[in-house]
Amino acid sequence: MSASHPSSFQSPPSNSAAVRSVTVLGSTGSVGTQTIELLAADTDRFRVRALVAGRNAALLAEQAVALHAEVAVVADSASYAALRDALAGTGIEAAAGAEAVVAAAALEADWTMAAITGAAGLASTLAAIRRGAFVALANKEALVCAGDVMLRAVLEAGATLLPVDSEHNAIFQSLADGNRGALEKIVLTASGGPFRTSSLEEMARATPEMALRHPIWSMGAKISIDSATMMNKGLELIEAARLFALDETAIEVLVHPQSVIHGMVYYHDGSVLAQLGSPDMRIPIAHTLAWPRRMATNSRRLDLAAVGRLEFEAPDLMRFPALRLAREVLQTGGGMPTILNAANEIAVEAFLQKRIGFLDISQMAERVLQKLGTLKADTLDEVIALDATARRVAYDLLPVQTQPAHAAPVPAAPPVPAAAPVPAAPPVPAV
Ligand SMILES: NC(=O)c1ccc[n+]([C@@H]2O[C@H](COP(=O)([O-])OP(=O)(O)OC[C@H]3O[C@@H](n4cnc5c(N)ncnc54)[C@H](OP(=O)(O)O)[C@@H]3O)[C@@H](O)[C@H]2O)c1
Repeated sequence: MSASHPSSFQSPPSNSAAVRSVTVLGSTGSVGTQTIELLAADTDRFRVRALVAGRNAALLAEQAVALHAEVAVVADSASYAALRDALAGTGIEAAAGAEAVVAAAALEADWTMAAITGAAGLASTLAAIRRGAFVALANKEALVCAGDVMLRAVLEAGATLLPVDSEHNAIFQSLADGNRGALEKIVLTASGGPFRTSSLEEMARATPEMALRHPIWSMGAKISIDSATMMNKGLELIEAARLFALDETAIEVLVHPQSVIHGMVYYHDGSVLAQLGSPDMRIPIAHTLAWPRRMATNSRRLDLAAVGRLEFEAPDLMRFPALRLAREVLQTGGGMPTILNAANEIAVEAFLQKRIGFLDISQMAERVLQKLGTLKADTLDEVIALDATARRVAYDLLPVQTQPAHAAPVPAAPPVPAAAPVPAAPPVPAV
């Protein structure tokens, strides 16, 4: 275990009380809209530079007008006309396409929320990091898919990664006393998702509708399915290893259905520091937004008497093999995390389209890992190439997957590379 980490433990900046310029990548999603809510409640303190969405031009335009953003960008070029028309006469610049997304992320801003789902967020997250800014990282898939590349960029640019995932934010807060050298292990808690108490037979019959019904958190579709398979916790394991420079053996996962304790740090004097709070993403988002200070929020206050009891159990690796896979991938290293992430993204998409069953998701990820062996991905180009290869292999597996009773066969779609090429010096939109 290494004792220090370059990104998340820098000294707080001295001008932290000044107005902060901010950009939100993925502003129309679950994390994005909660970020917008916090920004809207404190407009004197934040100035919005750019807002970015995938294709929801109507909501993006509404947010941009409400927060007087300078630039609004949709990734989907077909949504450009709707965005441009909705912003006509406002003075807000509208743009579209993958390059415009990266350009918006590269605009000077003190703080950037990286909340695009999946490896699709890699290019823009990297562009924000390369500016040397504070980057609030929700987009865990980017760090899983291209960890070394991202951490090198953080070091080179002097950027600061602020973890948004509630578990990682909890660890970040629990490490705040600075005694990194005295750390024994960290614990990431997990709600256990909608199938925590389901049998394997019940899980085999699970539909997307059932899997999307998370007992605690209301989130986007991809992370909801990841929570149901516990691949989310697997990705978080890899994310934690990267963010806090820890060996896989120093990271424990504990199922805690109430989701009140988000993370814990065990120190070698026997002390355990934890961060608690209601399961409300506005709390970790606000922590990163105001860091190193704190800002008031309307989040649900924790009422432990009402919660009554806190329960804990070890995760069941038989029913949730994604966790085992993530540990193996971390131990092996190389390109394995990139492969796992890409295969999982394709499998989740296929499950949501009812092309494969619920248990097929982790099985498919494992088969792609077995097929591609221990290919390496040290540079960004290698990451992008391996991500594309893993997606192709996963697509090729789709027709041979068992079709569940509720699934209608759909012809295989052509592979879509998600980790798009990242320009070294992204163009900046005129504002
Ligand atoms: N939701 C949570 O509570 C939570 C908690 C911890 C971590 N996270 C992580 O945060 C990230 C976002 O999760 P979420 O639940 O907020 O997802 P979500 O609700 O699906 O939102 C995704 C956002 O990304 C945008 N987007 C999608 N593809 C894009 C592309 N190619 N280019 C630009 N923008 C694109 C979407 O735009 P459109 O709306 O236009 O499609 C939307 O704004 C994920 O990595 C997730 O693991 C989420």
